[in-house]
Amino acid sequence: MNIHTVLKERFALALDGLTENITTAVEMIRPSQEPKFGDYQANMAMSLGKQLGKPPREVAEQIVVRLDVSDLCEPPEIAGPGFINLRLKSDWLAARLQAALADPRLGVGCAARVKTYVIDYSAPNVAKPMHVGHIRSTMIGNALARLLRFYGHKVITDNHIGDWGTQFGMILYGYKHFLDRSAYAAKPVDELARLYRLVRKLVDYHRDVAEMPQYEQRAVELRTRLEDLNAKLQTESDAAAQKKLRKDQTRLHSQILELLDTIKAVAEKIRAIHDDPATLAMAKSHPDIGRAVQEETSKLHHGDAENLALWNEFVPLCMEDIERIYRRLNVTFDHTLGESFYNDRLPELVERLLAQGIARETDGAVGVFLPGRDIPMLVRKKDGAFLYATTDLATIEYRMETFRPDAILYLTDFRQSLHFEQLFATARFMGYHDLELTHVKFGTVLGEDSKPFKTRSGDTVGLESLLDEAERRACKIRDEGSEGRDEKEDEPLAPHPSPLAPKRIGIGALVYADLSQNRESDYVFSYDKMLAMNGNTATYLQYAYARVQSIFARGKVDIDALRNSDTPLHLEQPVERDLALDLLKFEEAIELSLQDYRPNVVTAYLYDLANRYASFFEQCPVLRAENESIRTSRLRLCDLVARTMQLGLELLGIETVERM
Ligand code: ARG
Repeated sequence: MNIHTVLKERFALALDGLTENITTAVEMIRPSQEPKFGDYQANMAMSLGKQLGKPPREVAEQIVVRLDVSDLCEPPEIAGPGFINLRLKSDWLAARLQAALADPRLGVGCAARVKTYVIDYSAPNVAKPMHVGHIRSTMIGNALARLLRFYGHKVITDNHIGDWGTQFGMILYGYKHFLDRSAYAAKPVDELARLYRLVRKLVDYHRDVAEMPQYEQRAVELRTRLEDLNAKLQTESDAAAQKKLRKDQTRLHSQILELLDTIKAVAEKIRAIHDDPATLAMAKSHPDIGRAVQEETSKLHHGDAENLALWNEFVPLCMEDIERIYRRLNVTFDHTLGESFYNDRLPELVERLLAQGIARETDGAVGVFLPGRDIPMLVRKKDGAFLYATTDLATIEYRMETFRPDAILYLTDFRQSLHFEQLFATARFMGYHDLELTHVKFGTVLGEDSKPFKTRSGDTVGLESLLDEAERRACKIRDEGSEGRDEKEDEPLAPHPSPLAPKRIGIGALVYADLSQNRESDYVFSYDKMLAMNGNTATYLQYAYARVQSIFARGKVDIDALRNSDTPLHLEQPVERDLALDLLKFEEAIELSLQDYRPNVVTAYLYDLANRYASFFEQCPVLRAENESIRTSRLRLCDLVARTMQLGLELLGIETVERM
């Protein structure tokens, strides 16, 4: 049950006739910040007072007279200028928990309107190694899929892998010119990744060398313009004109600085190749590699037999590698329909967009022009090649035909914002008006230096090595963990048995660290922080869970009997009552997190609950409670905490451990 929603419904009834805008008014019911204001507080009397030209207190009184919450709340109190304070009845809370105890869903209801969601997440470009950024798309998408499903929605997960992109041109070229056969036989995916990196380096080198003079030329132009501006400023006497010139000056200045940064970075890349004779020699003997790579991609797309055969050999190998990571993360998909799946649909789609006037020709290419943008979204290049956007349009059509969703969610980092804005606008032109299209975007994973997370040598960090390291560190925690702990009734039993524990703790920590961030911000990656026993970490929550299991083991508790007993719950102590109220806010957290697709609302909830549990535990003896009835009641609260932790973490894609 969502208490917040129940209160809103009751207020909606009471407000009927008092205001036109009931929805806005009931949004002004919030959980109270301080216990003295009750559990929830309703603040609509202030704005209604203004609207109705009445003192807010009078309006509050009017609302309270009409409000029927006597089954769940103590009589509402009006405070200050007209706040309505609501305090839930403890026996009502106890009855709700009683019901939750016997319910595998812990009393959490389902969405009022069931929808069908397609979730497009993970979607790595195969044949490029997966890196730290992919954990975000994979795990945020996975959490949303689980949460939505649990909340009663129909969810179809689709891994839109990049299996058709230009990276294949690079690999095909690399395979044909630089293959190390024995390396390929031993570890094919590693060899393909090496080929990809090598060819990419050579292509970039030639491009950089070709573009460098243009950068330099542009720098000269900008400098000349700056000099002109400076000269004009010397002679200009009009204040307004001076102001404008100064503004231009600042802008030009930052443009020059930016360009100089680019030139420096490009020069460094070029120098790195010049300092590496072997690579330089390769670059020299493949001067036309950029064009050749494009040709390999184009041949593949046009069904060239050799390239297609190689592609058919590469993709399953790469997928096996990716699957191994998914297994470790415990992630599965209903469908894996990569870009290649849509290849056949593209020519007809572009013709249709042209015929319908949605797209038009521009410089030999075809693009969709959107209001307010000078640059079109291209759907066919001059040379006839189709683009990422074309495939995405075809994908929307296919999904609509096949799954008839109410919503499609796309999980990628924020750098693709423009792409999705254009894509969604085009989809509207194509007539998909009732379809919710949402780019669930996220920020970058940063290293401790606040720059994108890289290895010491400057490469992106492979996802697999990240998982290995997290597990390795979790083993260390396990081995050291029992040392400082005292033998209180709550402490998990040592020694630590399950070999699975470090995996679950390590991977759980990694996943949780990601999910607990506001997804739109960048965050700094730190093994130490993510595996801390205290703080907003999976480890802390897993520990709360394991702690309860340990109490049960020590107290030889019969769990079935506990869940089915009808001993009333005691909520006399303030910490017991607080814990009860928190337990009943689980559904609120789930619903809120799904409003704009933020798993961090659920992590924050679980963290609060774990803290509440810690205070409860400090103040209320469980196994040594003063009598049997209180002991049972507290054990039942413990059970609910553990189950909420377990279910909550499971919905985030994180497993619990019985002992740690
Ligand atoms: N493969 C893309 C990338 O790695 C992400 C694909 C996201 N999904 C989509 N339908 N565009 O950037």
